[in-house]
Amino acid sequence: MKALVACYSFTGNTLKVAHELQEQLGADFTRIEPVKDKWYLFKAIDAFREKKWPIKPCISDITDYDLLVVCSPVWSGRTPPGVNQYMDELQNVEGKKFAVLVTMGGNPGQLAPTQIKNSLTDKEMEFVTEIGIKQESVQSGEYVAMLDDFINELI
Ligand SMILES: Cc1cc2nc3c(=O)[nH]c(=O)nc-3n(C[C@H](O)[C@H](O)[C@H](O)COP(=O)(O)O)c2cc1C
Repeated sequence: MKALVACYSFTGNTLKVAHELQEQLGADFTRIEPVKDKWYLFKAIDAFREKKWPIKPCISDITDYDLLVVCSPVWSGRTPPGVNQYMDELQNVEGKKFAVLVTMGGNPGQLAPTQIKNSLTDKEMEFVTEIGIKQESVQSGEYVAMLDDFINELI
């Protein structure tokens, strides 16, 4: 199984988890990066409004992959605008599997994972599993053990 880990991260939490996942899966990695950064308030407002921001070129044609793992922080309960743009740009995704990994400051049950699931199932992708990791668990290192079950469901 060939997997692609696609990650957006602003302060590094999601990036840390995504790199661990990439290593354990032996996956390829692509970083989602907006062309321009914006102030905190604009981040929160644009995420809340489910806006899209232009992103730098990254791997968005997944012809060569069987599985895509979208890794994202939660902003205003939702996905950051760069992640929204990435999902829009994805190509050759029909019938491919996907999984969702989010990191967050608050509790699970926020909209972001559902947003990702809805966007990608609308593109005829097949949902496998999801995980939400709190930033404390990233900082304490607990996230490594938390990834075990998630990875088992992917392989
Ligand atoms: C603009 C902004 C909005 C955020 N909104 C939420 C939120 O609604 N719920 C939440 O649980 N965490 C929220 N957070 C916290 C991040 O989800 C959390 O710190 C995450 O681990 C950051 O990932 P990163 O380091 O990869 O950027 C927000 C962070 C930022 C910068």
